[in-house]
Amino acid sequence: MGFFAYILVLHALLLSLSLLVSARPATFQEDFKVTWAQDHLKLVEGGTAIQLTLDQSSGCGFASKYKYLFGRVSMKIKLVPGDSAGTVTAFYMNSDTDAIRDELDFEFLGNRSGQPYTVQTNIYANGKGDREQRVNLWFDPSLDYHTYTILWSHRHVMFAVDEVPIRVHKNNEARGIPYPKSQPMGVCSTLWDADNWATRGGLEKIDWSKAPFNAYYKDFDIEGCQVPGPASCTADPTKNWWEGAQYQELTPVQARLYRWVRINHLVYDYCTDKSRYPIPPPECTAGI
Ligand SMILES: *[C@@H]1O[C@H](CO)[C@@H](O)[C@H](O)[C@H]1NC(C)=O
Repeated sequence: MGFFAYILVLHALLLSLSLLVSARPATFQEDFKVTWAQDHLKLVEGGTAIQLTLDQSSGCGFASKYKYLFGRVSMKIKLVPGDSAGTVTAFYMNSDTDAIRDELDFEFLGNRSGQPYTVQTNIYANGKGDREQRVNLWFDPSLDYHTYTILWSHRHVMFAVDEVPIRVHKNNEARGIPYPKSQPMGVCSTLWDADNWATRGGLEKIDWSKAPFNAYYKDFDIEGCQVPGPASCTADPTKNWWEGAQYQELTPVQARLYRWVRINHLVYDYCTDKSRYPIPPPECTAGI
């Protein structure tokens, strides 16, 4: 698909979404708490955004006050500009239960100036992760805020960038493949030094002469079954909109965008990494 067709499709999609979705914007103070290095986070832009800083003394992080079972989480993020090699900015949901951990990860891997940022996604179900996929972004994510979304329903997990699906992980429990569905997860974010692996496999180190490194977050939106809260989180779409028909599988427009990403921007998929998995993991061949 050409770039202009992509923009047209995106517009149509955004219009239809704005009719369907009523967002519940929240502020940082209402929904989140600092979990790592209070002095490296601060409110900016008149209190509407938060700045995370990484320097040689520390990275930092925050997490939601509550956990959630299913739902949709999105936020706008403006990533570390310029030479961000070796830094990782993460936005993820995590059950905080080590051995049987469920986790849904967005990790933004920095790069040398002018080299593309990579978004790595990963999914842990019942303690098992190692399901990395990577896409290169089709824009410079440090110039402006972009929206990053995790939609988690009984049917699938979808990661999206500006409403463009970049990953879909189906619930294939019927085929014996574990799916996150019984442990609530918190919403977390961190900015940290990962130069032992993040950029070109760890070859590119952080250039501390460029520190401090700053990332910015705003427009937090969490909609899900809050825990502690009502005992269950039903798949009934009249109760929980994210279980609705339009979220059960990709719409034709989303499917086109997803194909466009897979063809033009996918740079790594554990499913096709023969050196790691001579036999692809079962979810890779279970069909979508
Ligand atoms: C950084 O840029 C290099 C060179 O273009 C590219 O091979 C790599 O995938 C980029 N991203 C990371 C995270 O290394």
